[in-house]
Amino acid sequence: MDFTIALLQFKPTRKSVEKNIQIIHQALEGIKADLIVLPELSNSGYLYKNAEDLKSFSEGNDGHGPFLRALIDLAKTINGVIVTGYAEKEGSYLYNSAIALSPQGPITNYRKTHLFDHEKMLFHPGDSGFKVFDWNNTKIGMMICFDWIFPEACRCLALEGAQIIAHPANLVLPYCQNAMVTRSIENRVFTITANRIGTEKLDDMRLSFTGTSQVTDPSGAIRYRGPKEKVTVHVLTIDPNDALDKNLNPQNDLFEDRRPEMYQLV
Ligand code: ACM
Repeated sequence: MDFTIALLQFKPTRKSVEKNIQIIHQALEGIKADLIVLPELSNSGYLYKNAEDLKSFSEGNDGHGPFLRALIDLAKTINGVIVTGYAEKEGSYLYNSAIALSPQGPITNYRKTHLFDHEKMLFHPGDSGFKVFDWNNTKIGMMICFDWIFPEACRCLALEGAQIIAHPANLVLPYCQNAMVTRSIENRVFTITANRIGTEKLDDMRLSFTGTSQVTDPSGAIRYRGPKEKVTVHVLTIDPNDALDKNLNPQNDLFEDRRPEMYQLV
């Protein structure tokens, strides 16, 4: 079964939702795909002094705010689902979230479980749990950036049936791309890490993001690895049903061979 996936790697502009909408629209013009993945915090950029500072560049998960509305319009022209990271606002709380948007509107929202470093000063820890949704006969799960270092994130999604894991990211450490190869092998799933590029500075903080967005498949093969610094759109076709077979060999089904009763801490 053919399923077209795409990722966009770019540099979100801090404090300009409008500019980010423009960049994304321009980059994705003419693209057709079943699923497109964008980086973490694509509406807002990354470094903010505090939650108050970030609030006006955040929006609700109902799809009525300017950023998500623009992406729903884009999903109509792409005729597929867009998974994007964004700063989410609910009441006085902010979340570092990912949302799946179809041409009809939001499908499901995920709030980042494992906050990284300074993010703990800005966001509430995610309370959504790990979510899997269906699109074109394919099950897709979402996690965000630093969730990669907790194998439980991918495992939960894979146990819920995810064939593809959409992974918006703003990576600063050099380990994730290699780790996602292992996440693919141990769960026999596809992963799409859409990372950002560029450097942000705020007071004495300076972060350089690592680009190198990537797609891995259930055998651990890297189907695509992008450049470190360039804005990139990459489209490729996969067969998500390759992720349904959890057999490593005739004797080992990676899910049936799990022994959760042996995983209790003693
Ligand atoms: C990260 O989780 N943005 C490093």
